[in-house]
Amino acid sequence: MMIYDVIVVGGGIGGLMAAIEATRNGARVALITKGNLFKSNSSMASGGINAVLDYSDHEGIAKHIDDTLKGSYGLGNEKAVGYMCRRAPLIIDKLTEYGVEFDRDENGNIAQRSFGGGSDKRTCYVGDKTGSAITQALIKTAKTKGVHFLVNTFVMNLAHSGGRVSGVVVLRRFDSSVVVYLAKSVVLAGGGYAGIYRGFSTNAPDYSGDMHAVALRAGLRLSDMEFVQFHPTGFVKTAYLVSEAARGEGGYLVNSDGERFVDELATRDVVSRAISEQIMQGKEVFIDLRHIPKEQLELKLPSLYKSAYNQAGIDIATELLPVKPVAHYTMGGIEADMVSTPMKGLFVCGECTSCGVHGANRLGGNSLLEGAVFGELAGIEARKFIEGRRLLPIDYNQVIKDIELVDRIFDQDTSKNFNAIRTSLGKMMFDKVGIVRDEASLTDAFSYLTYLRSEVKSLHCISKERTNNVELISILELRNALEVAEAVVLSAQMRRESRGAHHRSDHESPDSEMACSISVLEMKPNFYRLGFERNRLIDKVRKFFKG
Ligand code: FUM
Repeated sequence: MMIYDVIVVGGGIGGLMAAIEATRNGARVALITKGNLFKSNSSMASGGINAVLDYSDHEGIAKHIDDTLKGSYGLGNEKAVGYMCRRAPLIIDKLTEYGVEFDRDENGNIAQRSFGGGSDKRTCYVGDKTGSAITQALIKTAKTKGVHFLVNTFVMNLAHSGGRVSGVVVLRRFDSSVVVYLAKSVVLAGGGYAGIYRGFSTNAPDYSGDMHAVALRAGLRLSDMEFVQFHPTGFVKTAYLVSEAARGEGGYLVNSDGERFVDELATRDVVSRAISEQIMQGKEVFIDLRHIPKEQLELKLPSLYKSAYNQAGIDIATELLPVKPVAHYTMGGIEADMVSTPMKGLFVCGECTSCGVHGANRLGGNSLLEGAVFGELAGIEARKFIEGRRLLPIDYNQVIKDIELVDRIFDQDTSKNFNAIRTSLGKMMFDKVGIVRDEASLTDAFSYLTYLRSEVKSLHCISKERTNNVELISILELRNALEVAEAVVLSAQMRRESRGAHHRSDHESPDSEMACSISVLEMKPNFYRLGFERNRLIDKVRKFFKG
């Protein structure tokens, strides 16, 4: 058993900022990641981080707030959006102080580029490796502040008692043992669930909703789960991200007739749908960067330049690069008031949460910002919470259940292949719960999930080796992913309208009656309860029975 003041789960920008902030006043802070610290989604975020740089530029900040709220299609939470945009200039200063070397313009000021849905150039960047530059600087800072890194550690559940968090139950991957880490407060910052769309996502595939499943099991609510953002431009074969920076730097989208068909800097939902329509008409879609000087491409888009060559054999200075929309980011998440949850001592930040900062659609460049701003806040709140508090005793019944689950997965035999199941889950989600959905596709999706859930119960490790067993983690992830996928499908069924990233061909327009969040309230073995949430009051609760 290990004991900390604050445990942070997740090694992306939100988790790192939270951990750094929590260490002030000498708190003992651990940061848990299930895999390699350098492979978070934040570290793969390319194009930049939005901020008005001058904190006294009230007009510029008001425009950032306004763009973000417009982009949210009526579901943005004004308190959260206002806080994020006002804090942005100070966050850029803080990141600079932590060692992030943002690209500069000819006058030595931080350079900014255009991103979709922005009325001003406000995206700060480090070439097209912004997320990687930020996370590396934060990892170094966290190390110097004494954060204890616990890598290759998979969080199975929260430990809690009497409405207060008491720690986390984890699986240590190196020996497959289930242990409890005690803490006075916990921050969940473990990323989104776009990885469920395996094969059709820019995300590392293990971003498949572990935090969401953990939260649901602990009795917390998920909201806005139907809002999955499809990034307009992924590589056709590998789904590798073609950063929005490519369009921000002047790239065009053209179809196989050589025609431009959409404003390249419209919001992502609009651009993705426009590309998808072209593809449905049997056309191919390309990003055209040939009019941009090669030196500028190498300077501003170095990762894209190399990856296009290595993965697609394309020289973007002279050739068109084929693209398609792919799942990129999830607006839904663990319901929070800013970073606070109904469970005392439990704070959440970054992509795994839904505090309304993006509503039905996120602007590019606002996710690194959200992670930094709310990560900082979660760290501050977690640190405040521990003052004068003691550790709570652990309820070992939960731990025993997790030990039994791991033993069961090891002990029995199977002929089933977890990889086939998770690949078919990804394809099915893209086909049926993708850029455009309707009642029939969602009903099909739910039936298929029912089938996959029954299959997953009989998945066991073929290899009985307990050291670093990759199958075990994949099976546990898949169990979580299926629960989360159900929450996405049921929320999408309940939202009988089109809004932001959720587009239904059988309900093409927004419905003012639905300008509110849908929350997954409860998940029991036999049913889900979902409700419309207006001003934090739930109405029109619907119960869905599992097959
Ligand atoms: O296109 C991109 O560089 C992605 C940025 C983002 O999702 O914020």
